[in-house]
Amino acid sequence: MSALDEPRAAKSAGRSGPSLGLGRQLLRRKPIAQMVQEAGSGTEGRKLVRSFGVLQLTMISVGATLGTGIFVILGDSVPMAGPAIFISFLIAGVAALLSAISYAEMAGMVPVSGSSYSYTYATLGEGMAWICGWCLVLEYAVSVAAVAVGAGQYINESVAGLGWVLPDFVSQPPGSGGVMNLPAMVIVLLCMVLLMRGARESAWVNTAIVLIKIVILLFFCAVAFTAFNAGNFDPLLPMGTAGVSAAASRVFFSYIGFDAASTAGEEARNPQRDLPRAIMLSMVIVTSVYVLVAVAAIGARDWTWFDGTEAALVQILLEITGKPWIGAVFAIGAVLAITSVVLAVLYGQTRILVSMSRDGLVPKVFGRISAKRGTPVAGTLIVGIAVALTAGLVPLGALADATSIGTLFAFALVNVSVVYLRRNRPELKRSYRVAFYPVTPILGALMCVYLMINLGGLTWLVFLLWMVVGQVAYFAYGRRHSKVAALSQPDYEVLSAAPIDPH
Ligand code: ALA
Repeated sequence: MSALDEPRAAKSAGRSGPSLGLGRQLLRRKPIAQMVQEAGSGTEGRKLVRSFGVLQLTMISVGATLGTGIFVILGDSVPMAGPAIFISFLIAGVAALLSAISYAEMAGMVPVSGSSYSYTYATLGEGMAWICGWCLVLEYAVSVAAVAVGAGQYINESVAGLGWVLPDFVSQPPGSGGVMNLPAMVIVLLCMVLLMRGARESAWVNTAIVLIKIVILLFFCAVAFTAFNAGNFDPLLPMGTAGVSAAASRVFFSYIGFDAASTAGEEARNPQRDLPRAIMLSMVIVTSVYVLVAVAAIGARDWTWFDGTEAALVQILLEITGKPWIGAVFAIGAVLAITSVVLAVLYGQTRILVSMSRDGLVPKVFGRISAKRGTPVAGTLIVGIAVALTAGLVPLGALADATSIGTLFAFALVNVSVVYLRRNRPELKRSYRVAFYPVTPILGALMCVYLMINLGGLTWLVFLLWMVVGQVAYFAYGRRHSKVAALSQPDYEVLSAAPIDPH
């Protein structure tokens, strides 16, 4: 049996308990050759289907990104920063862009589906990879819940526009006067069913919705610019630079998701060429749209108007045009737009779990690929139900900031991984290389830490608690089932030195 077949043998060895000392296990890196060789397979050897080109990959990233952040959180954050909110978007965008550049280098080199979890496993070892994977659950699963709550708000707005009011007990979570947020739960469950049917079908639905959301945001800008008043930008910084910084951390939520293409590495036709392109292209698209929408919104209304205004973009449209049907069409478009975020991010979470379960760090059921559908049906069902319950029972604000802190941490790790691999594996083939190395990844990591520091004490507390739960889960399960840890030292060394064959 060759070392490259070893992971299968290690499966049984892994069950009998840890075979490495704790320190060595935490630092053991997953050989990149092994990652690439396993790519595309579930825990039972069945393959994911390679069907995505650069268009679908870009649409997955844009689909996962443009949503609650611009439709809901923009309006909520204007009172924090004043007219300079567009500068907050630019600051958050720079942090996201620098990290996106690092993602592009990593995705072109390690084109598997685990996103930053896989990159960290290859570079900083199992301990950090687990922490990163655990943060990605905050980034993906918890953000889906937050996003679905945002969509639920727009649904409530839309039906209210038609003269119907959903009673609080089915439209609000406990603590906000209700029993559950039913619209948010229904959105998650519908996306779950679509994803279980097949990745290709989901990708086409996603592409169609992304085009719709870009069109409705551009329509908003066109209308808002008719009421543009340059005087609204004076004074630019009524809340000072501190307000702009705090708002930058808050609106960072809007950029979460650009990395979703990197969860599709094993379903991409030419991942090494297309993943870096898709990540960079999606960043350019979303940053341009955000800055344009923020400038248009502030140009149309004085910054103080946003304080206490719900669904600000719809209100601006309604006030300028005076036509309720335009507001209703926009609200319906917003619901669709936000739904595509749920779809793309839910997709990403299930694929990251496939990678983690292949490594033995989470139960095998998450990596089981259905023979009929070519998708991880069981894992999608479990994640979908868990996310639907979270979306139905927890309010938006609590979810959004927790998501951002976990994401920023994962992004910082990706920046560090780029530096690590350039120093330690300079010979690896990179289809995309970070420009201005090492300034770009170092600055990227520092920007992420800066935005993390700006988030409030309560968010940090939630984050630390999340980390503690993660450690308990690792020691209860992952440490004892890790397949990389179960490799014998000689086999591990053979694998680590093996050349990389992408196909
Ligand atoms: N960036 C995603 C959104 O704004 C999470 O909805």
